Amino acid sequence: MNLPNMLEAKKRDKSEFCIYDYEEIKLDESLVGKKYYVRTYGCQMNEHDGERIKGVLTDEGMIETDNLDEADLIILNTCAIRENAHDKVFGFMGLIKKMKETRPNILMGICGCMAQEESVVKEIMSKYKYVDFIFGTHNLNKMIKVINERIRTGKQNIEVYSVTGDVVENIPEKRDSSISAWVDIILGCDKFCTYCIVPYTRGKQRSRKKEDIINEVLKLKDMGYKEITLLGQNVNAYGKDLYTDYNLANLLRDVSKTGIDRIRFVTSHPWDFTDEMIDAISECDNVMPYVHLPIQSGSNRILKLMGRRYTKEEYLELYNKIRNKIKNVSVTTDIIVGFPGETEEDFEETLDVVNTCKFDGAFTFVFSPRENTPAALLQDNTPIEVKNERLHRLNEIVNNYSNMRNQETVGTIQKCLVTGKSEKDSNKYAGYTENMKLVNIDSDEDITGKIVNVKIDEAKSFSLNGTYIKNI
Ligand code: 5AD
Ligand code: SF4
Repeated sequence: MNLPNMLEAKKRDKSEFCIYDYEEIKLDESLVGKKYYVRTYGCQMNEHDGERIKGVLTDEGMIETDNLDEADLIILNTCAIRENAHDKVFGFMGLIKKMKETRPNILMGICGCMAQEESVVKEIMSKYKYVDFIFGTHNLNKMIKVINERIRTGKQNIEVYSVTGDVVENIPEKRDSSISAWVDIILGCDKFCTYCIVPYTRGKQRSRKKEDIINEVLKLKDMGYKEITLLGQNVNAYGKDLYTDYNLANLLRDVSKTGIDRIRFVTSHPWDFTDEMIDAISECDNVMPYVHLPIQSGSNRILKLMGRRYTKEEYLELYNKIRNKIKNVSVTTDIIVGFPGETEEDFEETLDVVNTCKFDGAFTFVFSPRENTPAALLQDNTPIEVKNERLHRLNEIVNNYSNMRNQETVGTIQKCLVTGKSEKDSNKYAGYTENMKLVNIDSDEDITGKIVNVKIDEAKSFSLNGTYIKNI
């Protein structure tokens, strides 16, 4: 048994991390040929981890099911970013407890970011004995060992490490899409923004080797993928831990040379965003003109308390450069309201910045105190009703600007990558413009997986409606 330790997680070991290949461990025979169910919460990195969990289980002879009732093994790949992510997981665990009353032999395990939290793991050990195993973000490659040991001993098995973290290459993957693929480029985070739990749950910032990334993209292209998204908590720090003269700008140019149709990247931290990177995005045709650039707050006082390392003015300077240099770019952001000590004036400064930037979209959140983070210890006198009211005011403004930006596309022809049927209307197809706007497309032929011309007929705050134009 190995428990997470948040204090250990905070220490940064400056020694080199290791890069090595996945080594197969054979799954206990009792599960071979049986069914598994994986549910993933949280960000794209977690989704990509979910694809690896499925890949390993499939390679070991298990079969995926999306019907919980027929699953023999259930894995919850969790998120810890805000309290409501926790609540969802604990709610789902209650359902599985009920299932176990009639099917006591099913196995249920927890992994992902919540598994890295000391208090969560302790709570599970004392109150949730029906959880069979827990493994952390650092030992996903050892998942089979953790499951086998649970089966062998018949006891709850907890194997979570609070370490720098390695880079494990070639873990089997079962990707959710055959059109668009995630590609990790940098794991972990060293920024330690005062509200954020990610540096504790995901470990030290560590880049994958450029050759490994480029080979992966070439392979995906050969397999017919049209789009790849380079992933990291902060992609703009790519290479800093591995190279002296190779960064995200170089990587974007090299990935661009693979000739894959579309390249995206998330998430960007304004601190590491260089002019060189802006040039690379604007000069490489297959690097898509879309930047997700979290601002978090428009008040310099709050930005300082958040440990964000930039001022409102610096953010705006970068924002304007991105808007001016990258043709047809769209920019989205993340904003936290109700950070401890945020006054009405601070909040209004955030509204001011939103009014200045007119973002294409924004993900907005009420501050959620996270275990052991510095912000969780700050005095916070703002009542939750006030925070919710601020969120509501902010969302109204944000949505108006999304709508305004979307309206500008009406009547234009946009190149869209079609990902499948529309979720809203099964008679339509869903696709994304180059600058990442969702379009519900009318078409009388199946255009899934293609990049097609679409005439935009109508715009709403969160999506566009358009018609497939066959011959241009
Ligand atoms: N409370 C609220 N929102 C948070 N985020 C990260 N940590 C917290 C927290 N403790 C938001 C940030 C980040 C996004 C992924 O989640 O805006 O950019
Ligand atoms: Fe992803 Fe962060 Fe949630 Fe972990 S805590 S799953 S890294 S969003």
